[in-house]
Amino acid sequence: MIKTAIVTGACSGIGLALSKGESEVQPAPQQWRVVLADINDKAYEAIKASLPLSRAKGANAENHVFVRTDVSNWNDMVNLFRAAFEWPGEGQGAIDFVACNAGIDDIVLRNGLLDDDDNKDNEAEAPVPTQPDLRVLQVDLHSNFFATRLLVHYTRKTKRRRRLSSPPILETATATANGDWTPKMVVTASMAAQYPFFLIPQYTAAKHGCLGLVRALSPALLKHEGITLNCVMPGTVDTGLIPQPVLAQWPKEHLTPLDTVIRAYMELIGDWDRATMSERVASDAVDRDLKNGCAVECSADWLWYRDPVPFMDESMRFVAEQSKEEGILGRFTAELKVKMKSTKS
Ligand SMILES: NC(=O)c1ccc[n+]([C@@H]2O[C@H](COP(=O)([O-])OP(=O)(O)OC[C@H]3O[C@@H](n4cnc5c(N)ncnc54)[C@H](O)[C@@H]3O)[C@@H](O)[C@H]2O)c1
Repeated sequence: MIKTAIVTGACSGIGLALSKGESEVQPAPQQWRVVLADINDKAYEAIKASLPLSRAKGANAENHVFVRTDVSNWNDMVNLFRAAFEWPGEGQGAIDFVACNAGIDDIVLRNGLLDDDDNKDNEAEAPVPTQPDLRVLQVDLHSNFFATRLLVHYTRKTKRRRRLSSPPILETATATANGDWTPKMVVTASMAAQYPFFLIPQYTAAKHGCLGLVRALSPALLKHEGITLNCVMPGTVDTGLIPQPVLAQWPKEHLTPLDTVIRAYMELIGDWDRATMSERVASDAVDRDLKNGCAVECSADWLWYRDPVPFMDESMRFVAEQSKEEGILGRFTAELKVKMKSTKS
């Protein structure tokens, strides 16, 4: 069965490795075709010849397509998801997997919150500092909200077409919604999702935000829409993101190989055939059940499934519990929704 994946930031580094891995001809039960999304169309021209072109079934069928996309632009993202959904051929009419991977880091020289004000010696000319450039937040964080909204939209559309039950009822974490069909979304966060990266506070804030999105939204997303949401959190990987002079000084034992990150991705989408090809990588995944709300730290040759920080007292636990659907805040919000609906109609 052919499945359709979207990979953003697909023309370099982690996204490129992911796109190649998924579209390779392999005797795996899941065959993927990949929509490569990237802002850099020249990079696509440079790498396209390196992508495997045929797939196990049906030779000559293209198994990838490129859609130029700025992930921080809503219209570009709408266009990307529409292109993936409508892509003709086996797999049309469903988006099975989205890798929200595109990312940039702080443009330090343009964005230092502690930088000197322009014209600092001339009070009259510089009454206020220049507005900080928040593009890192838009690319690394906001784009994941755009992708979630669009994946929910197209998953509902597929369910309507396939006449799958809606909303799906999920009683256990191992059950799958939508019959056996569970679309997957994985965000490439970073170790900076958990630890401060001192030089790049905007990147750190954005990646912390990715982890927050995954942990807060994943239960409802699976329960109501049958979509899983997880993230990977790599350490330093040798990609276009890291300047060469920095890489030249980096001790090899503190680099995380690309296939460690790819293995994390494969575990999170349940592709255990491909996951276990990276035999060198050790994972502390306790089982092969459906993964949801997981945050996987990728460190050198290790995958660590990380839990949220433990509650320090019962009061904090109580407050957090109230934000669940069955909690005080959850019930209040549900009632408010009903009231708003009835005033509208
Ligand atoms: N390299 C690392 O050490 C490392 C560590 C942890 C997390 N990450 C994360 O991994 C992800 C992939 O980065 P990488 O390391 O492969 O870097 P990379 O620079 O090699 O690849 C990033 C790709 O994203 C694309 N891109 C940038 N802005 C975009 C936009 N607005 N819209 C669409 N595409 C855009 C770039 O053109 C590029 O092809 C990023 O989210 C990054 O934060 C990287």
